[in-house]
Amino acid sequence: MKKIIAVLAVLAFAGSAFAADVIEMKRGVSFKHKAHAEALKDCTKCHAKADGGKIEGFGKDFAHKKCKECHTEMKKGPTNCKGCHAK
Ligand code: HEC
Ligand code: HEC
Ligand code: HEC
Repeated sequence: MKKIIAVLAVLAFAGSAFAADVIEMKRGVSFKHKAHAEALKDCTKCHAKADGGKIEGFGKDFAHKKCKECHTEMKKGPTNCKGCHAK
């Protein structure tokens, strides 16, 4: 059973159980995943579970709420369009 699940996981996601260090997003956003994970030391700041994984419904609304909210609160990280969007 385990083996079957492993094979399916590989097929479904080309083996990417780990996030890339930098995730390229829409409209020129380069999200430094590794740097965030290291600086924040808590995966559940963004993920529902401590082992991360796909974020349900990730997109513009999530980003503009979550990403900006934290940058504003911590007074670190960009809150203006150009700070996140290269284009
Ligand atoms: C500042 C927010 C943030 C933090 C902190 C963070 N992540 Fe992420 N992570 C993201 C975003 C955004 C994505 C990409 C969204 C998506 O694909 O659903 C992502 C994607 C991932 C993915 C790839 C999901 C997939 O299947 O494509 C994994 C695995 C992951 N994160 C694990 C972790 C782990 C483990 C930690 C803690 C060490 C962590 N993340 C911390 C925001 C974060
Ligand atoms: C829980 C807090 C938190 C969340 C959520 C968060 N960030 Fe950040 N972000 C930070 C902090 C803290 C820094 C500053 C890191 C530093 O200065 O070392 C930062 C810095 C940045 C920077 C500038 C740093 C660089 O070198 O690129 C970008 C761009 C950025 N964040 C994008 C995002 C995006 C996009 C998201 C959502 C997908 C996001 N952040 C979510 C805390 C957060
Ligand atoms: C903290 C970072 C951050 C800031 C600040 C920010 N954005 Fe975004 N924005 C994102 C992320 C991340 C996404 C989602 C990218 C994805 O879904 O791949 C996004 C998505 C979008 C989209 C949808 C793109 C698409 O093709 O679906 C638009 C339009 C957009 N942003 C415009 C803006 C404008 C205009 C501003 C300034 C008022 C702004 N953003 C500020 C991070 C940011």
